[in-house]
Amino acid sequence: MTTPQQRSELIAELSKSELRGPEFRALAMTYLSDVSGYDWVGFYRLDGDELMLESFVGEPTDHVRIPVGTGVCGSAVSENRNKVIDDVSRETNYLSCSAKTKSEIVVLVRREGQIVGQIDADGHTVAAFDGEDEGMLQDVARLMAERWA
Ligand code: SME
Repeated sequence: MTTPQQRSELIAELSKSELRGPEFRALAMTYLSDVSGYDWVGFYRLDGDELMLESFVGEPTDHVRIPVGTGVCGSAVSENRNKVIDDVSRETNYLSCSAKTKSEIVVLVRREGQIVGQIDADGHTVAAFDGEDEGMLQDVARLMAERWA
């Protein structure tokens, strides 16, 4: 549940950074982890037919490599779409990172139309994320694409 003001402030701050590549993506995770409701945030890079966890803020997870098609993260890639999951307990294709997680959002990062990775956030409350969060993460994804390497 991000407000339009929080979204524009976060994007303005992140845009000031001169970092690129993995350092920029790690910075983006740090900024996102400060947003209320973002209890775990990570960036997964697509490597062939697997997602690899490149950077995260929050508790360590077992899911550092996720095959395309598996879980919310892998199915976002195979279905070529973002995912906003209000209640993970109702999700059949789901990999649990923490028993505390109640909701999740995944937004794809694309370069020249190709999926190159994704931003994943988990929340400890049901329906922690909405369309405004998806929009903010899409803004972050665009910055990541511009500063990919
Ligand atoms: N829940 C994800 C796995 C990643 S963790 O949330 C960190 C999924 O179902 O793919």
